[in-house]
Amino acid sequence: MMNLTIFGTGACLLQRSKMLVPLVLLTLCVITQANGNASVKKFPENFLLGAATSAYQIEGGWNADGKGESVWDYYLHKQPDIVKDFTNGDIAADSYHLYERDVEILKELGAKAYRFSISWTRILPDGTTNFINPHGIAYYSRLIDLLLADNILPLVTLYHWDLPIAFSNNGGWLNETTGDRFGEYARIVFNVFGDKVKHWITVNEPSIHCSFMYEYGIHPPLKKSPGVGFYECGRNLLLAHAKAYHIYDVEFRKNQGGKVGLSLDAEWPIAASDSLDDLEAVKDYLAFSVGQYMDPIFKGDYPERLVNRIAAASRRQGCTSSRLQPFTDKQKAYINGTADFVGINHYFSLYVYRNESVRGYETPSFLGDTELGTFQDPSWPQSAFTRMREYAPGLYCLLMYLKDTYHNPAVYITENGFPMTPAEDLNDDKKAHYLRAYLKAVLDAKADGSNCQGYFFWSLVDGLEWASGLQKYKFGLYQVDYNDPSRKRTARKSALVYKEIIHSGTIDFSYNPDPYGDKCFKNT
Ligand code: BGC
Repeated sequence: MMNLTIFGTGACLLQRSKMLVPLVLLTLCVITQANGNASVKKFPENFLLGAATSAYQIEGGWNADGKGESVWDYYLHKQPDIVKDFTNGDIAADSYHLYERDVEILKELGAKAYRFSISWTRILPDGTTNFINPHGIAYYSRLIDLLLADNILPLVTLYHWDLPIAFSNNGGWLNETTGDRFGEYARIVFNVFGDKVKHWITVNEPSIHCSFMYEYGIHPPLKKSPGVGFYECGRNLLLAHAKAYHIYDVEFRKNQGGKVGLSLDAEWPIAASDSLDDLEAVKDYLAFSVGQYMDPIFKGDYPERLVNRIAAASRRQGCTSSRLQPFTDKQKAYINGTADFVGINHYFSLYVYRNESVRGYETPSFLGDTELGTFQDPSWPQSAFTRMREYAPGLYCLLMYLKDTYHNPAVYITENGFPMTPAEDLNDDKKAHYLRAYLKAVLDAKADGSNCQGYFFWSLVDGLEWASGLQKYKFGLYQVDYNDPSRKRTARKSALVYKEIIHSGTIDFSYNPDPYGDKCFKNT
């Protein structure tokens, strides 16, 4: 039987050229593994198997008990058509009131950890330390206490995109001082919760966050500043992350003994052919995605190829300096080494090729800077989201790449998931398959030396999918009935499958539970 592990990082970087033949081979190898004896490898006891959510996507209670407005609250009230189905996060899955049920769900799953985010304006209503909202503190304290009482480790994100509106109006992440305010917020959160929370994620996905806000202008504050805002925002988020890290390091680490990292979105790029150009394209893709954030933290500066490409494009476009502002030596030193672990949000892979036709872009843009084109293999199983297809070897390759490129850092997969359409019922077989296949890839990567220490499925329950709304994409292990004011949660098949994996520590591809018949869950 062919084993996935024969594809080391080197081979991961190369494409399965003459696409079809090797692709078929690779796919076959994965399928053979998937249906074969997968129980050989086991997750160690201390491996954190859990699930993830974020505040705005599930909490609701948008103005409850003194919570202030975030950029999402403000814009989705003012301009509801930002969201395709005109929904918003006012109530969402109502976890502000139903957190006890969420913890019960985690218990049902046997989850060892829960990744959730704190809403900045629930703690600091206007974003500043002028007023600390005791009700916000009390809410998260109750949640954390409940989790710990059930031996579920909290992994807490400080910032999952819900910027206080006042800061957004003041330039948002294009304004470096937002990072100073973030530091002050982080200090309060560390101070209040740090005796109980030992895993902190400063910011979630700077790359997607910045591109949706400032490159494409599809997330509030809808500011299109192509080829400029994206880099500036990313730079300021890196500095803000480093600020929070140093505050923890200097003021809290000794007494609290926790860890601080950040979560990055990372697809796996596969070269579309074995031409030198396409192999270079893969390296460029990695530099523009994870490299833009990981290199300053793990290597002390931006990747050279990122710097050179943006500088060259800027010159062509007649800019007097590069649109990517370099870090000063002081800033480089400040950012370098500021992660005790890295969180990876991985959903899919794609083929990448050198596309010089985008080079002619006269106006600055991220895409023009990369000169890359991408596509996917239509045979990869498709989710409800066009781009999200199952190709689990991509996660294996990504973990191997991180190991080899960044001295094997501690990694948590802080998001990985596969949305279904609302039409699909509780029998979400494709999601259950995706979950098993990706967990298998994690096990394979661990066997080959990856320092991956945990995995958080996205998402625990169905939530608001940002500008795509509430209705279209169902990421939850648990379905949430949005027609029911009580927001009833019901386990899908994927939840039962995950429960079994967590319980046994192994992956059984033949286990086929019935989500309509399980008496141990609250479905019946
Ligand atoms: C974000 C989540 C989002 C998920 C699925 C990630 O980029 O962190 O908030 O729901 O992708 O699109």
